[in-house]
Amino acid sequence: MKRILEPELMEDDEQARAYAESDFEEPHGNFIKLFKEIFAGREIGGHVLDVGCGAADITIRFAKAYPGCIVHGIDGSEAMLHYGRKRLAQEYDVGGRVELSQGIVPGAKLPQKKYDAIISNSILHHLENPQVLWKTVKLYAGSGAAVFIMDLKRPATIAEARELVETYAADEAEVHKRDFYNSFLAAFEVEEVRVQLAEAELCNLTVDEASNRHLIITGNIS
Ligand SMILES: C[S@@+](CC[C@H](N)C(=O)[O-])C[C@H]1O[C@@H](n2cnc3c(N)ncnc32)[C@H](O)[C@@H]1O
Repeated sequence: MKRILEPELMEDDEQARAYAESDFEEPHGNFIKLFKEIFAGREIGGHVLDVGCGAADITIRFAKAYPGCIVHGIDGSEAMLHYGRKRLAQEYDVGGRVELSQGIVPGAKLPQKKYDAIISNSILHHLENPQVLWKTVKLYAGSGAAVFIMDLKRPATIAEARELVETYAADEAEVHKRDFYNSFLAAFEVEEVRVQLAEAELCNLTVDEASNRHLIITGNIS
């Protein structure tokens, strides 16, 4: 199936609210679990960048999982950040270690010049030019930085995309189900991401299937 683009930023308030109110316990819990497994035995501390943090669910989960980290979330959409800030205001235990800012990568000005780890979930498929994400990684990853990026992978057929939406988002708001479906159509295949990484000369990063609908890109920047 050919890739069909969706808009880069999630700027519509109804869309942002539906996203912020969706149940991401399983995929976002899995994001943290896989990160821990892959970087087991490695000390994770310092500054972490969450690229395309949206409503900050993963940003906050990561800060809770790694109390030695300061996590900066960046997103181009004020609508998404609005829900992230609302949520953060209730998270008294991590509030001081999470900072959210508005900006469009790779040009955005970030609080740090270099980061000890870069994480990201579900931004890659939003990008018309995926090199935007790889350029951001190259610009902001410090020497030895851990990189962990998760995204949807494009199903082989429209029917499979519809089936995945019904399996994993049956009870969500219609606007979220529509976005989820469009995201599957805009996502990349594993082999396409391999080509992107080679083009970006990020040869330390590898891409793998993480589930029937996710791929992960991981590694350390030398
Ligand atoms: C599907 S959401 C994922 C949000 C969050 N990472 C999560 O997993 O809940 C993708 C986010 O990427 C943001 N985004 C897309 N392109 C961007 C860019 N070039 N710079 C900054 N944010 C961007 C969108 O505004 C949106 O909030």
